[in-house]
Amino acid sequence: MLLRCTVFIHFSLCLSVLAAEVFNGNFPFPLSEGDIKALNNALSEGDIKALNNALFASDDNTEEEELITLENSIFDDECAAQTNCGDCTSKKSHFGQGCRWCPLTSGNTCYSYGDHNNPCSSEEQQTDPDQCAPLADVKKPVVILPGLIGTGLDAKLTDKKDKANPTCYETTDDFFQIWISVPQLLPVVYECTMSEWELKYDFETEEVKDNDGVEIRIHGGEANYGPSVDAVMGWEQIAHALQAKGYKLGVDLFSAPFDFRMGRKQFHDYDYPKLKNLIEEAYVNSGEQQVVLASISYGAPFGQNFLVEFVDEDWKDKYIDSWISMSGVFNGAPMVVRQLITGMPGYGIPWVDTKVLRDSMRNWPALAWLVPGLVEGGDDRVVTYTESHNYTLSEVSTLLADGGAGEAADMINKSEGMLTDADPGVKVYCWYTFNIPTEYAYAAVDAGSEPEIFYGMGDGTGDLHSLNRCDDWNDVEITLFDGLAHSAFMGNETVTEMLVELVTSA
Ligand SMILES: *[C@@H]1O[C@H](CO)[C@@H](O)[C@H](O)[C@H]1NC(C)=O
Ligand SMILES: *[C@@H]1O[C@H](CO)[C@@H](O)[C@H](O)[C@H]1NC(C)=O
Ligand SMILES: *[C@@H]1O[C@H](CO)[C@@H](O)[C@H](O)[C@H]1NC(C)=O
Repeated sequence: MLLRCTVFIHFSLCLSVLAAEVFNGNFPFPLSEGDIKALNNALSEGDIKALNNALFASDDNTEEEELITLENSIFDDECAAQTNCGDCTSKKSHFGQGCRWCPLTSGNTCYSYGDHNNPCSSEEQQTDPDQCAPLADVKKPVVILPGLIGTGLDAKLTDKKDKANPTCYETTDDFFQIWISVPQLLPVVYECTMSEWELKYDFETEEVKDNDGVEIRIHGGEANYGPSVDAVMGWEQIAHALQAKGYKLGVDLFSAPFDFRMGRKQFHDYDYPKLKNLIEEAYVNSGEQQVVLASISYGAPFGQNFLVEFVDEDWKDKYIDSWISMSGVFNGAPMVVRQLITGMPGYGIPWVDTKVLRDSMRNWPALAWLVPGLVEGGDDRVVTYTESHNYTLSEVSTLLADGGAGEAADMINKSEGMLTDADPGVKVYCWYTFNIPTEYAYAAVDAGSEPEIFYGMGDGTGDLHSLNRCDDWNDVEITLFDGLAHSAFMGNETVTEMLVELVTSA
């Protein structure tokens, strides 16, 4: 698209910001073509406009706007109104050429010939009604469970007195998107964002709440919960591939976005009751078909704990068909220990201060929940070697407390049964990568100092001992991936095809 290209060509910084958004800074460069597409998809039109406004503030902004208006007027024809492949490909656009159906990249969207907004490659777009992909006969309802940083978040500032820097706002009239939003990650501005998504933790009551003067909700609020995929990030390709097979939002396609800063306690109070209702709704709306859960990364503890602690056997037998878990971190990730103690480089964005990022996340129950623990019968291996003491998995809360992350240590100490490695009692398709070097243990002068890193096996984010917790479950089919990085499951065509195949076969 015109605007997108302008941004990409002139601003390599955008690329690093975009990459950072989708891959959490863990993704190896250079990016493949598929990744670039995923990046593009991750950005909404609004973000691009906002970014452009920020970058072109003084110069040719007006010219850009005029170009867009011009473009819109040329391509505002009947193609845009079509909602299925057959109707789309049998219509003609302004230039007398057939309209183009683009099912995979942009969902149920029909483009005019020559429209710069059309993100499809020429092989991908459909112009011949006879070639329209057949709709699936079987469409098991799918509920998407996103991962850490995988839900869009909005903030509203009611009275944020304690500002990270003088440019930060104190109040806003309404909610605005802070995650993921490119302008909110620009230099200086990002400090405001970090301070806005910080949480307060009360050691006495174990309650967490938003920072003073800030309200945070999932992007778009409750309207985006359930019959929408607008608040979950990275799932565009999968959602669009399902839609191309005839899936419909609110009928057999749903998402369960959640505030990814939160952990088990908050999920039980707030998210699990909603998820239970949503699954029941998906069952009813799809003609009493059992539901497939599809999760990535932190969606694994989120989903496992729901299935093990929140619902019973009878409920699962009635409502759940199966669970497709991708890159499921069933026992967290060692790198979370590093993130909590010394901090990790900020999403691959050069200007993000590691300590600012670390401090903003230190009170997130999510990170405490993602600290690996000692599994029953497991090896109490050393996580961090120091001159005075070697800290093993069973001592990880002491390590955190000694390293300055007292809140996370306290959360871990007080939450019994936090491990999420027990059999969830449903059919599970467990998909993970086993052979990418992954942070595994550390050596440091003391608990709080900058460590040296030891690598083990895993998917680049989660280590193998976390990803393979599902191996011994009762009803599980394991699929091992070769060299596919943690977050790269999102937007990978092979993975998407596998998922679509599973949910569209009896
Ligand atoms: C930590 O473990 C290493 C390797 O096993 C060992 O050489 C060292 O003496 C241990 N350090 C302490 C303080 O126990
Ligand atoms: C957590 O528990 C461990 C072991 O019981 C204890 O040594 C440590 O001081 C506790 N840490 C916190 C922060 O409560
Ligand atoms: C997608 O995953 C498959 C299977 O692991 C792999 O062969 C392929 O290279 C991946 N595609 C991209 C674009 O990374």
